[in-house]
Amino acid sequence: MIAKKVNVYLIVCIGLIFNSRSNFNTACAQSAMTNLPGRRCVSLNGQWQVIIDPMGIGTWRQVWMEKKPEKKTDFIEYSFEGGPLLKVPGDFNTQKPELTYYEGTVWYKKTFQCRVPKNKRLFLHFGAVNYIADVYVNSRHIGSHEGGFTPFQFEITDAVKEGENIIVVMVNNQRLKDGIPGLGYDWFNYGGITRDVNLIETADSFIEDYFIQLKKHSLNEVAGLVKMNGAQLSQNISVKVPELGVDYKIKSNNDGLAEIHFTSQFKLWSPDNPKLYKVILQSETDTIVENIGFRSIETKGAKILFNGQPLFLKGINIHEENPLRAARAFSESDALELLTWAKELGCNFVRLVHYPHSEYMVRLAEKMGIMVWDEIPVYQHIEFSAPGVTEKIALMMREMIRRDRNRCGVVIWSLSNETYDSTPNRTAALIDLSRQCRMLDSTRLITSPICSQGYENNTLNVWDPLYSSFDIMSINEYLGWYSPWQGRPGDVQWKLICGDKPVVISEFGGEALYGSNSGPKDEAASWSEEYQEQIYKDQIEMFRTVPNLSGVCPWLLADYRSPGRLHPVYQKGWNRKGLLSDRGDKKKAWYILKTYYESIKNNK
Ligand code: GCU
Repeated sequence: MIAKKVNVYLIVCIGLIFNSRSNFNTACAQSAMTNLPGRRCVSLNGQWQVIIDPMGIGTWRQVWMEKKPEKKTDFIEYSFEGGPLLKVPGDFNTQKPELTYYEGTVWYKKTFQCRVPKNKRLFLHFGAVNYIADVYVNSRHIGSHEGGFTPFQFEITDAVKEGENIIVVMVNNQRLKDGIPGLGYDWFNYGGITRDVNLIETADSFIEDYFIQLKKHSLNEVAGLVKMNGAQLSQNISVKVPELGVDYKIKSNNDGLAEIHFTSQFKLWSPDNPKLYKVILQSETDTIVENIGFRSIETKGAKILFNGQPLFLKGINIHEENPLRAARAFSESDALELLTWAKELGCNFVRLVHYPHSEYMVRLAEKMGIMVWDEIPVYQHIEFSAPGVTEKIALMMREMIRRDRNRCGVVIWSLSNETYDSTPNRTAALIDLSRQCRMLDSTRLITSPICSQGYENNTLNVWDPLYSSFDIMSINEYLGWYSPWQGRPGDVQWKLICGDKPVVISEFGGEALYGSNSGPKDEAASWSEEYQEQIYKDQIEMFRTVPNLSGVCPWLLADYRSPGRLHPVYQKGWNRKGLLSDRGDKKKAWYILKTYYESIKNNK
């Protein structure tokens, strides 16, 4: 029996085709089952033994075998015993001085006691590992996963034994030319087992995945799917929403799939009323519950409609970093800290850049009534034409959508950031990806910020071939910082060659070092708060000129670590575009934005 009892819940299960039991334990990780909090889990968080392996020789030495000397003349040139410990979850860079800028291999080891009762199955689930993970259980290679920000799992039912079991994970965070993201990006490359690790016990045939949301354009009809897994795929399933008296019954087919369709009069989720319903799904062999909200998001011409009403997105960009710890954010308390600041700023929306953040962040935002932009790290210089890259991107997108598509707070899927139409295969690949995205989830808006606008004679020419396939034109522009104004901000002209679509300014801003008031306040090179403050004043003046403007999202909430930011006085390895300093101090520009957001009533 799993060492610790956890209440069993019911949810509805849907999803991608999930390998049947027969081909579990393939070399690639399985897409993670939905709704971990609703499952029977035992946490493997805590201290893990590690071997730091900068030469990457541990694979050749097969450290997962943990060989021991047998004869007096034997010696083994590695050992977890006597070695350092690292906390899981958490990046390894901030846990040991010798790992500060480390990009390489770290071997992690954890032992656990377990007994898997008959007719139960056991899975090993990782919230995220950056960047590559190779997993071994009891010296047996279970599989691997690539991608630093999405969950994955392995079935280990046949790999565990009574009593003590050993997990070894090889983690490598080296940046790769054909990685997602690629070699260069403007954030810190935190490596390690950066999110929770859990053992999940399931029934022999269980509810693997589900998708329950309002049908596109509807305010009262749920359309969804259930996905069973195991030997008994065809089962009688019921979907209950007790508060609404819903008790929908369906039978899954021989592939374990069943469609869900029911209507009800929902109290719709919104930022002002983040209403969630208890949804219970029961099959013949499994029972799971989850709290789910129901809302509609769509575009109509140049408008974004939320529950049928025009919506203006008052956003803020957030990296997954707790500035006060100067480390990768991973916990619910980190999420609360970041989202509380966003609320205080007057936001109804957060863009989680440039990769899926922890599930704590997405779930807490939903509870707090904050809409979420969820993004995969297809960032700037991606080798779209390199072998395997588009497949990696598609898998990462599927893993993000599979984890978050029952979170009604998530309203936008973003499939890239600042890639270029001139990159071979980029446009075709992203348009195809948008098609795949809609097949997985037709209920949300799809976008990809671009920064390729031309700025001449105080006129912004904005065009990208992606816009014809995406729902929102998201524009990253840094007028007043990277691009000095060419005239009065209120006189800027816009040429949007994209038809009648909503426009979101998905990034704008500039740098300031909190408290830097010594230099000339009207010079960018002083990194003064006043210079940043003026950028915000000018941007707000310019917003009046933007056609179809449906939202703004400044770059960004807090200063964050980025080793490419080299200035030894003002930056010291930090990107200083935060409205908050790395100590949480509010810069002058914070108040400009807060006042602007307060002036926008009813989110319109
Ligand atoms: C870009 C990019 C961000 C980056 C920012 C900056 O637009 O999307 O990731 O950090 O500009 O230069 O600060």
